[in-house]
Amino acid sequence: MSHSNPISVPTSRRRFLLGAAAITTGAAAFRFPTPAIAQGAPLKVGFMLPYSGTFAKLGKFVDDGFRLYVERQGGSLGGRRIEFVQVDDESKPESATDNMNRLVGREKVDLVVGTVHSGVAMAMVKVARDTNTPLIIPNAGVNEATGPMCAPHIFRTSFSNWQVCQPMGKVMFDEGRRNAVTITWRYAAGAQMVDAFKEGFTRAGGAIVEDLALPFPEVEFQALITRIATLKPDSVFAFFAGGGAVKFVKDYAAAGLNRTIPLYGAGFLTDGTLPAQGADANGIKTTLHYADNLDNPANRAFLEAFKAKTGQDGDIYAVQGWDAAALLAEGLKATKGDWSARTQATAAMRAARIDSPRGPLSFNRAGNPVQNVYLREVRNGRNELVSIAGQAVDDPARGCRIQA
Ligand code: PHB
Repeated sequence: MSHSNPISVPTSRRRFLLGAAAITTGAAAFRFPTPAIAQGAPLKVGFMLPYSGTFAKLGKFVDDGFRLYVERQGGSLGGRRIEFVQVDDESKPESATDNMNRLVGREKVDLVVGTVHSGVAMAMVKVARDTNTPLIIPNAGVNEATGPMCAPHIFRTSFSNWQVCQPMGKVMFDEGRRNAVTITWRYAAGAQMVDAFKEGFTRAGGAIVEDLALPFPEVEFQALITRIATLKPDSVFAFFAGGGAVKFVKDYAAAGLNRTIPLYGAGFLTDGTLPAQGADANGIKTTLHYADNLDNPANRAFLEAFKAKTGQDGDIYAVQGWDAAALLAEGLKATKGDWSARTQATAAMRAARIDSPRGPLSFNRAGNPVQNVYLREVRNGRNELVSIAGQAVDDPARGCRIQA
């Protein structure tokens, strides 16, 4: 039998039935209090990530990074053992509410860690708010999650779509680019990243020639690449990620445009993708909250441990998973592993200062990271640090009603 979906149905059903029994016999439950900690019950973390599709590697690396951090703490955070259940969200927004309800309602997870895709994340945030379930977003940048939809129990260890792309506008203008074509997938992340880039670029004095887009997760780029060749802009700004980014960069080079029209983008264009892109990615400049050669002890230790565990080079997705576990550790340390002291745990998480492989990491009132955004260039198969494009960049958290 194939287990493409790792949640085991019989166990889930049994747990669900037990849960229902506990509700109908509440008095009995009251007479025999069995707090989770006294039983040594593990904290149940639900991973809702893409384990298939164009973002499959991204989801796997988030998962690997998180588990690696926990393993290195001996399997416990703040003295509490951690166990996992996982669901493949396939980067499909239409299945997201059901998948989330399954983790929260049937699997009774203590918190959810997910996801990569902004549209899926929006649905997750809604369920997390409705059910008061703590959520750590280890990638998806959808601005609203730490904007109008912010909540004290919702955190992000990645970035907002605005945060990583707005600094690129000035970088490109300062490099002498006066006009640009944008190209991306037509969905929340693509639209918000392009908007943020345009905000920075036009404010610096640049002009947008044309915005190009195709539906997620399509990879038939040829017609759009031909359009870029016809328009002959000074530069191109792109957001693609995972398998789509690999193909876009290769198609761009195959058309010869890498020699005539410099390609820039959000760092996802070249992060975790370089082994597959090879020399076609050389010279691409991107902005991101990470670079492979950040020379700090936390990054060196992380890269070494990740390589030892997986045999692969760590990337931003693995860092974000690792830091999601580091953030949870802060909450559990503050309550000595007692997740029922939720308010205290989440307050400690909001105040956390993490020595991340990406550099110093703290959180704003909306739970979004405050972090450096780096300009990187692909050289010798690595995203090498060029400069700091923005120091301690803070997302404005527009629409978030939590006070500082
Ligand atoms: C997103 O949908 O927010 C997203 C997906 C993949 C990335 C970055 C952002 O690499």
